[in-house]
Amino acid sequence: MEKMSGLLSGMVFLLYVQLLLGLSGSHSQSGEGHGLKTEAQFTEKYFSQTLDHFNFNSMGNGTFSQRYLITDQYWEKGHGPIFFYTGNEGDIWEFALNSGFITELAAQQKALVIFAEHRYYGRSLPFGNNSFSIPQISLLTVEQALADYVVMITELKQQLEATLSPVIVFGGSYGGMLSVYMRLKYPNKVAGALAASAPILSTAGLGDPQQFFRDVTADFEGITPKCRDAVRGAFHQLKELAEHQGYSRIQSEFALCKPPTSAKDIQQLYGLLRNAFTLMAMLDYPYSTHFMGNMPANPVKVACETMLSGSDLLANLRNTAGIVYNSTGLLTCFDLYSLYVECADPTGCGLGFDSQAWDYQACTEINLCYESNNVTDMFPPITFTEKERELYCSKRWGVLPRPGWLKAQFWGDALSTASNIIFSNGDLDPWANGGVRKSLSSSLIAINIPGGAHHLDLRGSDDADPESVIKARKTEADIIAHWVQMERTRLQSI
Ligand SMILES: *[C@@H]1O[C@H](CO)[C@@H](O)[C@H](O)[C@H]1NC(C)=O
Ligand SMILES: *[C@@H]1O[C@H](CO)[C@@H](O)[C@H](O)[C@H]1NC(C)=O
Ligand SMILES: *[C@@H]1O[C@H](CO)[C@@H](O)[C@H](O)[C@H]1NC(C)=O
Ligand SMILES: *[C@@H]1O[C@H](CO)[C@@H](O)[C@H](O)[C@H]1NC(C)=O
Repeated sequence: MEKMSGLLSGMVFLLYVQLLLGLSGSHSQSGEGHGLKTEAQFTEKYFSQTLDHFNFNSMGNGTFSQRYLITDQYWEKGHGPIFFYTGNEGDIWEFALNSGFITELAAQQKALVIFAEHRYYGRSLPFGNNSFSIPQISLLTVEQALADYVVMITELKQQLEATLSPVIVFGGSYGGMLSVYMRLKYPNKVAGALAASAPILSTAGLGDPQQFFRDVTADFEGITPKCRDAVRGAFHQLKELAEHQGYSRIQSEFALCKPPTSAKDIQQLYGLLRNAFTLMAMLDYPYSTHFMGNMPANPVKVACETMLSGSDLLANLRNTAGIVYNSTGLLTCFDLYSLYVECADPTGCGLGFDSQAWDYQACTEINLCYESNNVTDMFPPITFTEKERELYCSKRWGVLPRPGWLKAQFWGDALSTASNIIFSNGDLDPWANGGVRKSLSSSLIAINIPGGAHHLDLRGSDDADPESVIKARKTEADIIAHWVQMERTRLQSI
């Protein structure tokens, strides 16, 4: 899903900068445009967190340091609400720096803002660098992460003398799933949730395995069907070359560091190329971004221009992948196995420690069995069935996925008795159709954002924003203000 750490060389640089700033303890975030200028100054802190919330013996009373970012610069102390971001699969600074809407809203509604890092990601490693071994990894579950957040909310409210401050949770993607689950599990602590681009149905196994890559394809087709045809044509040529063992030609066409030597290498190349299209579809924002790597403005359009820039389809495909993997212009060759790692998430896990944690989550609770087939989408056929997932996960982590669990634990498609959740989705986002697209009641509200990519609404306002997202943010702000008011009444009457 978000696949943060070290995805690209540009990304590594970004993390490095953040590391330096993180060490100094604070960093600022700016939201531009529309006359609303905010500069959030987050302070980085650590929280002593219970290692195992659900077993009093196995890990004893052990704790670990969980990182969070906090700013009270907009807060009406002791009275204003608390906006709590339920961190997802990456370094928490990445989310704080790419969710400017939350601080803009905090400025309007005089809220305290907290971004909490998810256990096993970023710097919140319960067992340091050994966190990714068996059995240390076993404390990485959705349930433990939610318990971390509710414990943190409860204790920080005490510490900050904010017991009467309503809490609203926010999250994007998997973070959005977590904010939905927080409202389901802890309505005593959480008054409402804004879940942006949260694929809560597909990840619970309630989706169509073809949906994801079909919707990626639709974005490119939406520019022009010729674009889709060019991509399919390029993959066809690549397949023909591979079938005739034209390995050295493939190496030169794709500027690979080493020639492919087997069908496995070709599969890896297919995966790497497909992943570039996936990222461009997800991150198809109307301005350039530095989230999950560097993206130009409107990357899908840029990709289609590249795909249609001449008659050499293979060169066009290489250059299109370069938009993602060679954004710095410094890549001398594509290294098949270091730029992309195959894992239990066919939409990519990224690289580094964060990717191992995400792989484990995709092997246990979170179902991401999406396939491409070259019929309902433009990509080479790459299957990822439940059976393949089981084989991979038992080999990699010694676990068998439990495909029915998330659905039972977090209500599956029977959400209609929940309340106070906004499900926002942009129609350019391939994750959108794995989530809730229609309102389920007057307080379970689906917001559709035409022309919006992956959680565009959480980003700070920008002059290039489409009207649709400006309107969505306004609706979200009004609903959240209403929740805060209702919760204030409830808290005061206890
Ligand atoms: C838990 O705390 C008790 C009481 O302080 C202590 O005796 C025990 O050793 C601790 N257990 C672990 C596993 O740390
Ligand atoms: C843990 O791993 C990171 C990333 O590989 C490395 O930078 C760091 O030095 C390691 N820390 C320790 C204590 O070994
Ligand atoms: C990366 O981009 C630069 C600048 O456009 C280009 O010269 C170089 O060939 C590209 N590298 C690869 C591997 O395509
Ligand atoms: C995709 O399907 C077309 C039409 O059947 C076929 O010609 C092409 O080789 C297929 N491409 C791949 C990569 O399998």
